[in-house]
Amino acid sequence: MTVKEALQWGRQVLQMTGQGVQEAGRDVQVLLGHVLGVERSALYAHPERELTDRELQHLTTLLERRRRGEPVAYLLGHKEFFGLDLLVDRRVLIPRPETELLVEAVLTEARSRLGRGEVPLIADIGTGSGAIAVALAVNESRLPYLYACDSSAAALEVARLNCERHGVSGRVRLLQGDLVQPLPEPVDLLAANLPYVGLEEREQLAPDVRDFEPPEALFAGPRGLALLERLLLQLRERPVLKERAKVFLEIGYQQREALEAFARQLWPSLQVACQRDYAGQERLLILSF
Ligand SMILES: C[S@@+](CC[C@H](N)C(=O)[O-])C[C@H]1O[C@@H](n2cnc3c(N)ncnc32)[C@H](O)[C@@H]1O
Repeated sequence: MTVKEALQWGRQVLQMTGQGVQEAGRDVQVLLGHVLGVERSALYAHPERELTDRELQHLTTLLERRRRGEPVAYLLGHKEFFGLDLLVDRRVLIPRPETELLVEAVLTEARSRLGRGEVPLIADIGTGSGAIAVALAVNESRLPYLYACDSSAAALEVARLNCERHGVSGRVRLLQGDLVQPLPEPVDLLAANLPYVGLEEREQLAPDVRDFEPPEALFAGPRGLALLERLLLQLRERPVLKERAKVFLEIGYQQREALEAFARQLWPSLQVACQRDYAGQERLLILSF
């Protein structure tokens, strides 16, 4: 089978499972590029190239897994986030483009403080693949070190590989435990993309998310607020935040009101701001202490 034939065949296989023509075409290009070890664009430079038996077998296996709904990022074993190639597998959530907004906001605040001669200490709670912590460490070399916490030992193993891959192992301190409990010292900036999907919404999730991503990285109680509320309670109870600290929370698109009210009960004079994502949804809650 040639490259051209494989692209057509693969697209038809994926379309039979209900994928649209464009999505199926893009997925098969990415998967075939992965099998052949070339960029997608290179596939069209040599459409007549014959696949070896081994390559065809590999492509067939990947198409079968994709047909059963497995996300492309897990099939490839990596995903781009904030311009970085991150390793991902089923131990971690696949980093989402919305979360780049949170990284941008934390970087902006960190740089403003660095510009005033301060060196902010940052923690990433629920680090998963390490996406947020690694992106911050790589993009701001003036941060001497930062913390990245997760309750899942398996996720922290992936985060460790990503720290090594991007040369920041010495600066990202990985800690296992519940929310902010493992932090050994107070921080200036706290970033968290914790699970915020409600168990009540489980059936409405896309099957590739629901059936393949780790449930402990997705769900947080019936309405998705359980972990974020518990995080705020921990912040209230423990000396986790330094003076003038800021907390950046990624939230579900209908959760701003409930979380803001919850936070105001704990700290009546708290300053709260909200940023929308590119789709116009309220996505990032910023609490200034
Ligand atoms: C939505 S994923 C986010 C992963 C990564 N920060 C990102 O943005 O791609 C949430 C992460 O929070 C972790 N988590 C869930 N419950 C936790 C808890 N009680 N304490 C710490 N981490 C927790 C999960 O293991 C998962 O890795």
